Order: sequence, then structure tokens, then C-alpha cells
Amino acid sequence: MLISGRGSNFTAIADVMAAQAWSADIVAVISNKADAAGLEHARERGFATAALSHKDFADRAGFDAAMMALIDGYQPDLVILAGFMRILTDAFVDHYAGRLINIHPSLLPSFPGLKTHEQALDAGVRLHGATVHFVTPTLDHGPVLIQGAVPVKAGDDPATLAARVLRVEHQIYPLAVRWLIDGQARLVDGKVLLEPGLQPWVFDSVG
Ligand code: GRF
Repeated sequence: MLISGRGSNFTAIADVMAAQAWSADIVAVISNKADAAGLEHARERGFATAALSHKDFADRAGFDAAMMALIDGYQPDLVILAGFMRILTDAFVDHYAGRLINIHPSLLPSFPGLKTHEQALDAGVRLHGATVHFVTPTLDHGPVLIQGAVPVKAGDDPATLAARVLRVEHQIYPLAVRWLIDGQARLVDGKVLLEPGLQPWVFDSVG
């Protein structure tokens, strides 16, 4: 699990993992920021943690190579980006092809990049949300596992909208991870194939 900040998606996954007694474990929580709040949450829960600062490397390729070595030391089956605020090199993405997933706070392909809630408000869309997807070399693209939609409400500002989207993020990311762990979702010819009966979307109008 790779994080850069508060790590609420990490804790959402960890909580569901514990509550449902998954036959899987989080082998490490790694951050490019040693002071990421999420690392503290990980330590409190007893998970291995590590920090590797991108500032200690001259270039992106050097950082990504060191990060790959660090990650591979834990031998994960799945590499989960949960608010990891780094643009990844193609070498990194290729190395974990098919087992690298991300959550992005928009209904992709709308609003890639940063400030997605501002983008949504500026565009005047009525639905917004989040997407869990396999990572490919193009930023915020890649085969979609699940999407969570929320309404945009009158009077929303980026913060209120972000909070509503975050609620649905915490619902969809554990689902997607579970499907992958259980082999219920697979990547076939660049598309996600789901076991029949799985619902690859959530609509949350409550928050
Ligand atoms: C989330 O909104 C996620 O979609 C985006 O970064 C944020 C991370 O939040 N990629 P957290 O660290 O999981 O709380």
C-alpha cells in the first residue's frame, strides 16, 4: 500500500479486511513522506511501514527504482496506490503491470489530474465520484474496476464535495481489492472481467 497523506483509504481497506477476515494481509504501508499521518495509523494497527523520500533522489527514475526495490522486498501480490501523490515512470508501471491499482477522485475519464472537485464544480456536472482502476502509463487512465458516484448538491464547495466523494471512495476501494484478492476480477485484453453478479458501481446520495 503506497500513501502520501492521511491514509483514509488505507484505513478503510484495513478495517474491511479485518472485519471480513480476508485471507490476505497488508505486507507494508510505504510513503514518500515520513510524516504522513497514514503511516502512524498503519503503525497503530501493527502493519510494517517504510518511508522513502523522493527528495533524496536526483530524478524520478532513481526514486522509482529505489521504490521498486523497497516494494519488492515485501513480495506483494498487489500494489495499492491510496493517495500516493507521485507521477510514476513507465518503468514502475510496467514492472507492476496487472497488479497496480489506484483510486482517483473523479468519474474517469472526466477530470484526470489534480483539483478534481474544483474541476467538477467548474464544469457544472450533476454527478461526481471516484474510480478504482488499474494503472497504465497514461496518468489517471487504465481499465476501470469500480466507480462510485455521488450527486453534486446546490451550495457545494470543493470541500463539501470532496467529503461526499471520500465516503464513496471508502466503499468502493475495499470492494475492488477484495475482488482482486479473491480472483473475482481479472484483467483480460486490457479490460476488467468481473464474476457475474458483482456490481461495479456504487451510488451514495446520503453524504
Ligand atoms: C483520495 O481522495 C484519493 O482519491 C486521492 O487522494 C486522496 C487520498 O486520501 N488519490 P487518503 O490519503 O486515502 O485519505
